[in-house]
Amino acid sequence: MSSNPYQDGRGNKDRTITKSGGGTLNVDTGTEQDKHTGEAFLIGDSMTGGYGKTGPDILHDCTIAVNKGEIAVIVGPNGAGKSTAMKATFGMLHLRAGSVRLDGQDITRLSPQARVRQGMGFVPQTSNIFTSMTVQENLEMGAFIRTDDFSDTLAQVYNLFPILKDKRHQAAGELSGGQRQQVAVGRALMTQPKVLLLDEPTAGVSPIVMDELFDRIIEVARSGISVLMVEQNARQALEIADKGYVLVQGANAHTGTGKELLADPEVRQSFLGG
Ligand SMILES: Nc1ncnc2c1ncn2[C@@H]1O[C@H](COP(=O)(O)OP(=O)(O)OP(=O)(O)O)[C@@H](O)[C@H]1O
Ligand SMILES: [Mg+2]
Repeated sequence: MSSNPYQDGRGNKDRTITKSGGGTLNVDTGTEQDKHTGEAFLIGDSMTGGYGKTGPDILHDCTIAVNKGEIAVIVGPNGAGKSTAMKATFGMLHLRAGSVRLDGQDITRLSPQARVRQGMGFVPQTSNIFTSMTVQENLEMGAFIRTDDFSDTLAQVYNLFPILKDKRHQAAGELSGGQRQQVAVGRALMTQPKVLLLDEPTAGVSPIVMDELFDRIIEVARSGISVLMVEQNARQALEIADKGYVLVQGANAHTGTGKELLADPEVRQSFLGG
């Protein structure tokens, strides 16, 4: 298995679970020969840092990346630093070392809001919607940086999540867990991001709702948006992942295509329940 997080792995191209359509399967053998020289679209590169100026380091030389239009998944035990790695990539953490690059540009010093302008969308693990506002107000809030007409984007979000259109005048707090997650993802899509960071988008939902959410996320990636997500449902998430990262104690423990990680005996034993 490759441990080089920069490698442009071709990902899990098993057509039964990812992109449909013809063409030959480009299987990543995990050998050096497939290595691309190009950088990933978004890279949190060798990140070291923690909370506040004096807090202990939570991340230790941690690297996560996602290619254009692909799905990269971060898994690992509770407290491993998955959310911290996402926050660091979004600019919510002071990095003691390392950098973040988006489309070849160094954005390490940019504020989260500036990163949104550069094309990043972030859905945090908790408090990711305004519960007392209506569904539509939440989506409109998502478009906060836009000065143009965003009605087309709103229509696209309703197209992706039709139930949200039906419930657009209802308070978001009255929705089911899965529907709230749709609002949160929809809100982030309102800025027309190039890359979407999702921290546990399927937390607390039933297996059926999880499958539905994953299908929508695949749809988003197929539209050309890169998706970097943290998932507690590790096995299912790796099945749809082009690239996977197992984090342990703030560091990269295993990196590979989703398929490689699912097949890795050590990863299976330690993180996927055998
Ligand atoms: N705001 C914060 N201030 C200080 N320490 C924090 C803060 N948030 C998280 N931590 C610490 O950082 C470490 C990693 O937490 P993090 O939330 O990134 O883990 P995680 O992998 O996302 O866990 P989970 O699977 O439970 O969501 C933990 O030790 C946690 O206590
Ligand atoms: Mg977390």
